[in-house]
Amino acid sequence: MRRGAILSLVAIGLIVGAAVTAVAVLVDWLPEQASKERERIDFVFWFTTAICIAIFALVAAVMLYAVVKFRARPDDDSDGRPIHGHTGLEIAWTAVPAVLVTGIAIVSTVALAQNDRSSGTPMSIEVTARQFAWSFKYLDEQDLTSTTLRLPVDQPVKLTLKASDVIHSFWVKEFGQKQDAVPGMVTTLRITPTKVGRFSVICTELCGLGHAFMRSKAVVMERAQYEQWISEQRQALNGSPGQAGKAVFAQNSCGGCHTFTPAGSKSEVGPNLDRLAAQAKGPGQPLEQFVRESIVKPDAYVERGFSADLMPETYDQLPKDQLDALVQYLTSPASPKKSKKEGR
Ligand code: CUA
Repeated sequence: MRRGAILSLVAIGLIVGAAVTAVAVLVDWLPEQASKERERIDFVFWFTTAICIAIFALVAAVMLYAVVKFRARPDDDSDGRPIHGHTGLEIAWTAVPAVLVTGIAIVSTVALAQNDRSSGTPMSIEVTARQFAWSFKYLDEQDLTSTTLRLPVDQPVKLTLKASDVIHSFWVKEFGQKQDAVPGMVTTLRITPTKVGRFSVICTELCGLGHAFMRSKAVVMERAQYEQWISEQRQALNGSPGQAGKAVFAQNSCGGCHTFTPAGSKSEVGPNLDRLAAQAKGPGQPLEQFVRESIVKPDAYVERGFSADLMPETYDQLPKDQLDALVQYLTSPASPKKSKKEGR
């Protein structure tokens, strides 16, 4: 009888285990894999899943067997036999999970340590997270700044993460590993993209009302295309003041919030930049000083109809030459002339 019970338990366990394994393996649960680090993260994931399937099969086998074997017969009104624990079982169900959880901890630690040690010389990018946007500064490229993360394929990258207000968390699901950006701390994350494509950069730490919209793009490009993009951005920055200002405006996505006719932007989240000359009269400042202050200290004077804290206070980190170019671009004579046409 005992032997029969064990055989039944094993049979139920195998059937349940096979069914759950089929669900795990046959359905494509995980997102596309696009970095070396992601392969290690996935390994940890499957390692943990295999353990879970084994435990689930064991528990399901015992449960299903007990439900059938020990069910109360219609004429059975007797009470069950009293039990006073089982030392052997108790030791087993404490020791086995302890061993499994320790195993998962070791495998995770090894995977994370390997991810932190990318091969080759990584390129350095500083990531700044703020409510509610990302910006990426290319430290090897004259501090060129972009609101999209552009990376060459198969090139190790070291991201240094900073947060300027609250805790955020950087995640590209195709790259696998997440990393928090914490105010007052510098954290790092290594990525070696293995696939060309466009992926979403997502904030995975609840950071305020705009958390769900704190997204950007990671664009992985062929090396040649990436070099071309970098040289175009550099050329724009080093070109005539107008060109440089236009490039800074575009790289920092100013048009995402502001209308500015010379840049072809029409957003109305922030004040209309075609009307800067009129707005400067509010605080009674000379135009250039007003524009500069509004960029680096946006809450010093807030245009009527807009609330303070709307504009991130992070543009004081713009390198001086980029800030100068941007101010010049916004205050150049072309802007007020065109603003009349816009009529707002
Ligand atoms: Cu930043 Cu959520």
